[in-house]
Amino acid sequence: MQIHDTISGVRTALKAAGRVVFVPTMGNLHEGHIALMRQARQHGDCVVASIFVNRLQFRPGEDFEKYPRTMLADCDKLREAGVDHLFAPDETELYPAPQRYVVEPPAEHANILEGEFRPGHFRGVATVVMKLFGIVSPQAALFGKKDFQQFMVLSSMVREFGLPIDVIPGPTVRAADGLALSSRNGFLSAAERAEAPRLYRVLAKVIEQVRAGATDFARLEHEAMDELRAHHWAPDYIALRKQIDLQSPSAHDTGLVVLAAARLGSTRLIDNLEV
Ligand code: PAJ
Repeated sequence: MQIHDTISGVRTALKAAGRVVFVPTMGNLHEGHIALMRQARQHGDCVVASIFVNRLQFRPGEDFEKYPRTMLADCDKLREAGVDHLFAPDETELYPAPQRYVVEPPAEHANILEGEFRPGHFRGVATVVMKLFGIVSPQAALFGKKDFQQFMVLSSMVREFGLPIDVIPGPTVRAADGLALSSRNGFLSAAERAEAPRLYRVLAKVIEQVRAGATDFARLEHEAMDELRAHHWAPDYIALRKQIDLQSPSAHDTGLVVLAAARLGSTRLIDNLEV
């Protein structure tokens, strides 16, 4: 695996690379990321990963400073997964001056759900991914459905800008007890880690009820949040939405997804399940 920390270095290396498939990450890699790397292999000749903890998508007071940085272990995992190139710039390489030009996703995508609780988050995500796309020039890019709204924002961005990139979803990878793998799981205490799969179980129960014909979505959402609160979680939202645009469904709509964000102690976890 070749490792590049400059824009010019990675551009030169990828000049004759064939069909480039790109998997952007913020590092601290786990099996969810690695599954995307393996899936990427099926979509092209040259798999490129990036590791960059993007300050633009964190708000003051969020966990940018303490976001785990584990470059050496990450490189071993990427090598083992057969990744061809890693682009891992530092901040002065990617943002040598304040980034004034930004990608502003539409409010109906960016100000709901995660965007309501993390204002500006998707502007930061879209801006760095657009910049990385310009550097790596991939023909395809993979993003996990674990971050369902992020996938919708980025695939809409690519479509509306007419970028020549196939955006491919990867399924959510979970621990045996159902907890979606996340770099933030490492912040959980042993007791919190034992409690954490409740988020998945609560979502699975919502899905089950919808499959059985329940259409009182607001009641399902409230019951699910109450169950979390009863076990000392602080939910930001649990919301049944249409998969296609994440807007609220009416009773006859199909193709739904239930999305959640909740804090357990000081760790904020997100998850979702499609109906
Ligand atoms: P990060 O959280 O590192 O995630 C990198 C990619 O891995 C994303 O596409 C994410 O959806 C996917 N992923 C994370 N956990 C997963 C899991 N359990 N199962 C499947 N896929 C999973 O998402 C970001 O970084 C950043 O916002 C980024 C897109 C890199 C822009 O900075």
